[in-house]
Amino acid sequence: MLNFKNTLSQALSCAIKKISPESELSASELLSMLEYPPSRDMGDIAFPCFKLSKSLRKAPPVIASLLSEAMDKVEYLAKAEVAGGYLNFFIDDSYFTDGILDKVISEGDDYGKSDSGKGKTLVIDYSSPNVAKPFHIGHLGTTVIGHSLKKLHEFCGWNAIGINHLGDWGTQFGKLIVAYKLWGNKEQIEEGGIDKLVELYVRINNTIKGDPENGIPARDDLADQSRAEFHKMEIGDEENIALWKWFIEISLNEYEKTYKQLGITFDSYAGESFYTDLMPAQVQRLRDKDLLKIDDGASIVDLSEYNMPPCLILKRDGSTLYPTRDIAAAVYRKEHYNFDKCVYVTSNQQILHFQQWFKVLELMGYEWYGELVHIPYGTVSIGGMKLATRTGNVILLKDLFKMAVEKVKAIMEEKNPDLENKDEVAEAVGIGAIVFYYLTNSRIKDNDFSLEDALSFEGNTGPYAQYTYARCCSIIEKAGGVPEKSLTSGYEPQAAEAALCRVLSLFTEKVNDAITDSEPMVITRYILDICAAFNRFYHDCPILSANEDNARAFRVRLTEATKTVLGNAFGLICLKKTPKI
Ligand code: ARG
Repeated sequence: MLNFKNTLSQALSCAIKKISPESELSASELLSMLEYPPSRDMGDIAFPCFKLSKSLRKAPPVIASLLSEAMDKVEYLAKAEVAGGYLNFFIDDSYFTDGILDKVISEGDDYGKSDSGKGKTLVIDYSSPNVAKPFHIGHLGTTVIGHSLKKLHEFCGWNAIGINHLGDWGTQFGKLIVAYKLWGNKEQIEEGGIDKLVELYVRINNTIKGDPENGIPARDDLADQSRAEFHKMEIGDEENIALWKWFIEISLNEYEKTYKQLGITFDSYAGESFYTDLMPAQVQRLRDKDLLKIDDGASIVDLSEYNMPPCLILKRDGSTLYPTRDIAAAVYRKEHYNFDKCVYVTSNQQILHFQQWFKVLELMGYEWYGELVHIPYGTVSIGGMKLATRTGNVILLKDLFKMAVEKVKAIMEEKNPDLENKDEVAEAVGIGAIVFYYLTNSRIKDNDFSLEDALSFEGNTGPYAQYTYARCCSIIEKAGGVPEKSLTSGYEPQAAEAALCRVLSLFTEKVNDAITDSEPMVITRYILDICAAFNRFYHDCPILSANEDNARAFRVRLTEATKTVLGNAFGLICLKKTPKI
C-alpha cells in the first residue's frame, strides 16, 4: 500500500498549501503521519489532523473537512470521510485486486524486497554460546531474533555479516581441563560429545563449591588449579591449547546440528579468543587517553559521571575481561568490515554491559560508537515443565527441539500417516512451531513457553501457518498450475478477495517496520494476518469448483500470490516452507 500512501501524501501536501499557503509540510513528512485505522470500517488509511492543529491554528475536525474539500482527485480513492479529528480514506477494492496479484506473481521470491539498504553493511553478532556451557533455551532468543534481523536486512539490500562471537576463552576452560584430567578420557568425550563436556564442567563447578551444609567442603585448591591451567593456555602451553581446540571442535559440531535444523549459517565464528592479540593496543589507547584507573589492583574505566558502575578492563593479574574483548572486537570489525551498523543480540541481563563499553568506546574517541546497537530480549521459561536435564536444571535447546519434533510426529501419524518424508516434515513443523511461538511476542517481554500451545494446529501457531501454506500448494497443484492473467478478465472480486489482496500489499511496509523496531514479531503477526485473510477467502469463495472460469482463474492466482508472500515471509523468521503436511 506504500505507493498509494505516497500518492495520498502528495495530494495532502497540495491541499494543505491551498488552505495555508505559508505551510512548509513536505509530502514525506505527511507520509510518516499516515496511520492504519484499527478496523477497516474506519477506512484503509487515516490522517490524524490534530498533528496540524498547532501550525494551522484550527481545530482538528475543521482541518479534516477543509482538507477533504481542498484535495484533488486521487486515483482509486473511493471516498474521504471526516471522523472527529481524523480524515479517513477508503480505497477502492479494485486498487488491491488490479495490480497486486500480477506484481506478486511476477516478482515471486523477490516480492517485498527493497534496496533501501543498498551499499550499506550490517555486522550482526548473535547466538554466541559459551563453549562447554550448555546451549540452553535462553539462547533461542539471540539465535532466532539475530538470524531474523539478518535476513530482514538482506531482504532490504544490506550486505549483512553474521558473526557467532563464541565464548571460547576464559577461566571456564581452565576448569574443564582440570575436570578432564581428573575424571575424563578421550573415548568418553568422543562418544558423548558436548553432553560429556558439560557434565564435566558441571561436576567441577559443584566440586569446587562443595556442599558445606552437608559436610562436603569447598575445594579452593581445584579453583586455583583451574586458574593455573587457564594461565598456561594464555601463555601458549601446547597441551592445553590442543585440549582447548578439541573442546571447541566438539562443541561446534553440536551447535552446527542445531543451526542446521534452523537453517542458519554464519559468516564468521571469530569468538572471543580471536581478539587476544588485538587487546593490548586498545588497553594502550585507554592508557594514552588517561581513561584507566587502578582500583584494588584491577584496571577500570570510571563511569560514575554517566551514572554507571565502572567498566572492568584488566583483572588484578593483568588478564582481560569480557568488555575488553568486546572493545577489541568492535574496533576490529569496524576496520575489517567498515560497517554502517553493528548489532548485538543478547538477553536483557547484558544491557548494562553494552551501555558501559559503548560509553568507553565513545570516550576512547572512536567516532563511530553511535553505529553500535544493542538489541536485548526477555527471558524464556517453560510453563508447567520443570524439566531437569542431566546438566542441572536448564533445558537444552536440542532437547526442546527433540520433544517438539516427536510430538509432531505423533500428531502426523494420526492425521496423515501416508505422508512422504514424514521425518523431514515433522522436523520442519516441530522446530518451526517453537520458533514461531517464540517470535509471536515482543522480544523484550519475558516469554513463558507452552509446548502444547506452540504445537497446536488450530491456534495462531507455526503449524497453522505452515498448514495454510501447504493448503495453497495443494490447491495450485490440483488446479494444474497458475492461470494467465488474461483468463481472469471481467471478474469482479468479492470482499474477502479484496481484503486478502490488501493484506498481501502490506508486505514491504511490514518488513520496514520490523527493521525499524528490530522486531521479528511484526513478520510473525503479519503471517497470521495473511493466514486469517486467506482462510476467510477459502471459506467464502469456492476456488476449484467456482462457477465461472474467470472466477476460478482469479482465485487460483490469488492462492499463488498468498503462497508466495507466505513463503517469502517464512524465510525471514527461520520457518521452513512445507508444500505438504
Ligand atoms: N557469549 C555471551 C553469552 O552467552 C554472548 C556474547 C554476545 N556478544 C558479544 N559481543 N558480547 O552470554
